[in-house]
Amino acid sequence: MRAWRHSLVWKIALPVPLALLAMILAIGFIIPRQIEADTQATAVENALQTIAQFRSVRDYYNTAIVPKIRGSQDLKLTHLHANDPKGAPIPATFMLDMSARLQDKGVSLSFYSPYPFPERANRQTDAFQKAAWEQFQKNPDTPFIDRTVLNGKEVVRVAVGDRLGEACVACHNSHPQSPKKDWKVGDVRGVFEIQTVIDAQLARGHMLTYSVLGVVLLGGLAFGRPLLALVLDSVFDLTQEGWRKLTFRWGLFFFFLAGVNEVVWRTQTTDFWVSFKVFGIMPLTIAFALAQTPLLLRHERKTDDGKTDRA
Ligand code: HEC
Repeated sequence: MRAWRHSLVWKIALPVPLALLAMILAIGFIIPRQIEADTQATAVENALQTIAQFRSVRDYYNTAIVPKIRGSQDLKLTHLHANDPKGAPIPATFMLDMSARLQDKGVSLSFYSPYPFPERANRQTDAFQKAAWEQFQKNPDTPFIDRTVLNGKEVVRVAVGDRLGEACVACHNSHPQSPKKDWKVGDVRGVFEIQTVIDAQLARGHMLTYSVLGVVLLGGLAFGRPLLALVLDSVFDLTQEGWRKLTFRWGLFFFFLAGVNEVVWRTQTTDFWVSFKVFGIMPLTIAFALAQTPLLLRHERKTDDGKTDRA
């Protein structure tokens, strides 16, 4: 009897949590991955669109307005336009001013280069910005993209090179304050960058995944189908009641995870949430899987002579 128990415990206790874990990994981690990838792709697409829109506004300003200012006696183009009643912003200053205004509204557009004009010489660039600039020297037309945690938020950063046309070069090579005067047409002069915060989308993705798992399992039960039996039938052998109980518990557990995920995301920092997704959810799931062992032992299906099928 003792030997039988011993082997049963080993037969069940080991493969069951492993099989459940494999299933949870498959559904619970691959789907959120996919959602994350989609969220990131959407953020990149939107950022590229926003940059393209800004560029066309700047190019319009450059072609439709700048020549008139140039031809005018009363106005002059200057990057120091703010306190100059006759000063009109040059195209880049127009962009820089716009990005500063948008920053206040939560859209993060920046415009920079390692060659700022003297008034902006104290600007700091971070590792991403330096790497983007480096890449544009080799591949000026390929966007530079990264996803990272920045100031406690999950962000997607998209940078695009800004190349000089003839009119741009003429001014940049002659302007008295220009920090570099050997620009050529087609050179990348600066970088447009959009930062998009994606915390909320990611959190929604996780919540959705767990809720779907919960709905599928409990919904199946409501129609008399303990779905875990279908998935795990080949791994171990339970009574119908055992399958029902197991499916019910896992269904509730996924709703619990959806709730925990939501609470952690809303109340904790993003840094915490990001590590919780891996180091919190995973151990919780393993612990829950292990905690089901007694239920599995109780409901193992017995053959007529009282021994297990699997003996
Ligand atoms: C009339 C002269 C003039 C023209 C034309 C001009 N620029 Fe500039 N550009 C400047 C000045 C001056 C600055 C500094 C603006 C500031 O710091 O506010 C500047 C700044 C920049 C910057 C930002 C550099 C940095 O690190 O801050 C970029 C990028 C840039 N210009 C690209 C262009 C492109 C591309 C064009 C053509 C579409 C262009 N410029 C046309 C004079 C000009």
